[in-house]
Amino acid sequence: MRTFGLFSLLATVSQFAASAFGQSCSTTGVTGTAAAGDPYWLQSIKHQGLAAFNSNPSTYQVFRNVKDFGAVGDGVTDDTTAINNAITAGTRCGQGCDSTTTQPAVVYFPAGTYKVSSPLIAYYYTVLIGDARTPPKLLAASSFAGIAVIDVDPYIPGGGGAQWYLNQNNFFRSVRNFVIDLTQTPATASSTGIHWQVSQATSLMNIVFEMSTDANTAHQGIWMENGSGGFMGDMVFNGGKFGMWVGNQQFTVRNVTMNNCNTAIYSIWNWGWTFQGVTVNNCQVGFDLATGGITQDTQTTGSIAVIDAFVSNTPIFVRSSSASNGSLHGALVLNNIHLTNVPTAVTVSGGANVLAGSSSTMTITSWGQGNVYTGTSKTSAFVQGNVATPSKASALLDSSGRIFGKMHPQYANFAASQVVSVRDQGAKGDGKTDDTKALQAVFDTYAGCKLIFVDHGTYLITDTLKIPAGAQVVGEAWSVLLGGGSAFSDKANPKVVVQVGQAGDTGIVEISDIIFATQAPAGGAIVVEWNIHSNTQGGAGMWDSHIRLGGADGTNLLVSNCAAGTVNDACSAAYLGLHLTAQSTAYLEGTWVWLADHDLDSGGSQQISAFSGRGILSESAGPVWLIAEHHTIYQYNLVGAKQHYIGLLQTETPYYQPVPANPSPFSANSSLHDPTHLSGQTSAWAVNIESSSNILIFGAGTYSFYSNYQQTCLTSANCQSQIFNIDSDSSVNLYSLATVGTTNMLSIDGQSIVPASANVNGFQSSMTSWSAS
Ligand SMILES: *[C@@H]1O[C@H](CO)[C@@H](O)[C@H](O)[C@H]1NC(C)=O
Ligand SMILES: *[C@@H]1O[C@H](CO)[C@@H](O)[C@H](O)[C@H]1NC(C)=O
Ligand SMILES: *[C@@H]1O[C@H](CO)[C@@H](O)[C@H](O)[C@H]1NC(C)=O
Ligand SMILES: *[C@@H]1O[C@H](CO)[C@@H](O)[C@H](O)[C@H]1NC(C)=O
Repeated sequence: MRTFGLFSLLATVSQFAASAFGQSCSTTGVTGTAAAGDPYWLQSIKHQGLAAFNSNPSTYQVFRNVKDFGAVGDGVTDDTTAINNAITAGTRCGQGCDSTTTQPAVVYFPAGTYKVSSPLIAYYYTVLIGDARTPPKLLAASSFAGIAVIDVDPYIPGGGGAQWYLNQNNFFRSVRNFVIDLTQTPATASSTGIHWQVSQATSLMNIVFEMSTDANTAHQGIWMENGSGGFMGDMVFNGGKFGMWVGNQQFTVRNVTMNNCNTAIYSIWNWGWTFQGVTVNNCQVGFDLATGGITQDTQTTGSIAVIDAFVSNTPIFVRSSSASNGSLHGALVLNNIHLTNVPTAVTVSGGANVLAGSSSTMTITSWGQGNVYTGTSKTSAFVQGNVATPSKASALLDSSGRIFGKMHPQYANFAASQVVSVRDQGAKGDGKTDDTKALQAVFDTYAGCKLIFVDHGTYLITDTLKIPAGAQVVGEAWSVLLGGGSAFSDKANPKVVVQVGQAGDTGIVEISDIIFATQAPAGGAIVVEWNIHSNTQGGAGMWDSHIRLGGADGTNLLVSNCAAGTVNDACSAAYLGLHLTAQSTAYLEGTWVWLADHDLDSGGSQQISAFSGRGILSESAGPVWLIAEHHTIYQYNLVGAKQHYIGLLQTETPYYQPVPANPSPFSANSSLHDPTHLSGQTSAWAVNIESSSNILIFGAGTYSFYSNYQQTCLTSANCQSQIFNIDSDSSVNLYSLATVGTTNMLSIDGQSIVPASANVNGFQSSMTSWSAS
């Protein structure tokens, strides 16, 4: 999500803060001073990450440089074994382990060409990072054998399709800064770059895939058959039969370029995907969609929403495998699409064209296929044509009119001397020492002077930690800031754990690879309060940073004390997950605000009953990429919010509801703007929007999988009645909404208008758009 305040033009320019050791500190960020030829700072800094809850924290190694494990990187030596040894060293979560948060690894590749002959198997909680200054090449040997160069969920040989990890629970993975080269393998071999079958808290970024451009090429960049993600972006695919061959419940893809692929993107199934910023050059087909499977067992592509695409010299932009005759064959939304020499815009395999293209140039402003709703009418129109044009605040757009995007900052031009380690400055990160003062001192001294590196660890915070304007903060395989103690335990006196900027603060704040967590009882914790206002687009933001409540060692919220079915104050995890206050601006990419439904550290993915009052409250303005799950009263609440872009938004209702009924075990708080429509709403609202304007939601999936831990309501789609509310005092454009387990998909002023039963399309119901008129 990113938000840009309505008042951004009126705010003051950068201020200069105190200086640390004679360096001037700036609220607008530090300029890198690395010399040409320097390696990436991550390679050179001291490596002292501490896995606080590991069984042997003093010897467990978080950071692993593949060269320390014998990889050569000369393009000749087979480095497969050395790299896999770097990944597996120590006791790690491989085959037979569902999940764990206590065995993390950053596996680092210096510049070089690493030849591999079989898959690099990225275990659970592994981050693969190449030198960000000179991305290393992973070169598939001509003899390469296996599912993909990088595999994140191996199939067990002879296992009848069994895999190491449950695809919907394959969390905490990232791959960054690589060139994956398949061109030495035979063109007709189905060589694949990455088998990426993942769920939330995962990302791919800054990766180039090199594949054969032979007419009969069978190469593919990404192969993803299922999962529940996720974010990926900033990738280039050259050649191949498929750039991306993908199926997953939901996903956000931003900034991908496909050159000379046969099919740029093939979609096998989904409930809803958002593609933002897609460039397709010289391919045969842009999007090829398997459609027509309208039962749970025959699930195909539910919804595709594409915003800001440039397509050239490609015969077909979008092709579906069967004709659409209503929502029955899914939702398709196209917005701001520029075609150059694309004769067919939308067509059906073996059938009639739905939308002609052009042999010269053509722009598609806002087009949809499927069921469209307007105002408070309960009746849809089946549309294959123009749909309402969304209102896009100019503050949300880049100079070419596309939704603004900003890659996860990696500070490639920083010298190692510009990085300060919080452990070097006295913070312990051992999960038990109170690190509040040590961390506060680092932020106060170095915000805007140095890149603040939070070495892997769990840092206990017992009072509000303030991150000032100018701070650039980087974690290591998700360093954890853990709010605990009496300050955060009182549900009647909520208190902020981490405050990002204080009211009135202007400047940048960039946070990446951090987890914000709490130690129960924490029913009074407002986990992150975001006040910072940046005058630069994307200047205040978070990337690959998450709010994770319960379910991990150190949180006091495990199956041993909070097993499913118990309602206990000791199992309260938060009052509110994330609060974007009125003056703030925020760009949040790939953020997951998760109240754990199961225990990641006790084996067997066992369910727990933990309680968090609220997910995300925004009173701010701007665009949003966020996923929020399992909070009691709501997942997203927009009140007085302006200028938001949200895509894709995903939520799940708590599995215990309606026992106890919402808002129990919390109380509604009108001064915190809890939703007006709570009477009779015994399960949480996924989304509630009141008194807000200029809200663009481009892709959403709001799911209710359980009623009091039972799933019989899933087939009858009545786990809850209403899930998504827009008050008529707000201006909202909603596109590509998928729901699961709810009787009604959309409500206006608390009154249901869109029945899910009229839009069934596989496991989920899909609608193409809603607008006020
Ligand atoms: C995931 O996809 C594979 C390959 O299509 C399939 O065999 C498997 O059954 C799927 N798993 C689930 C849980 O849908
Ligand atoms: C898009 O991705 C490419 C390739 O990684 C990168 O060079 C470019 O800077 C990205 N653009 C944005 C706006 O992030
Ligand atoms: C749409 O197609 C499905 C099967 O593909 C069929 O069952 C249904 O009756 C059709 N609906 C209409 C309105 O033609
Ligand atoms: C209600 O929310 C307000 C505003 O955040 C807060 O100051 C107050 O303490 C909350 N009251 C209760 C009882 O939680």
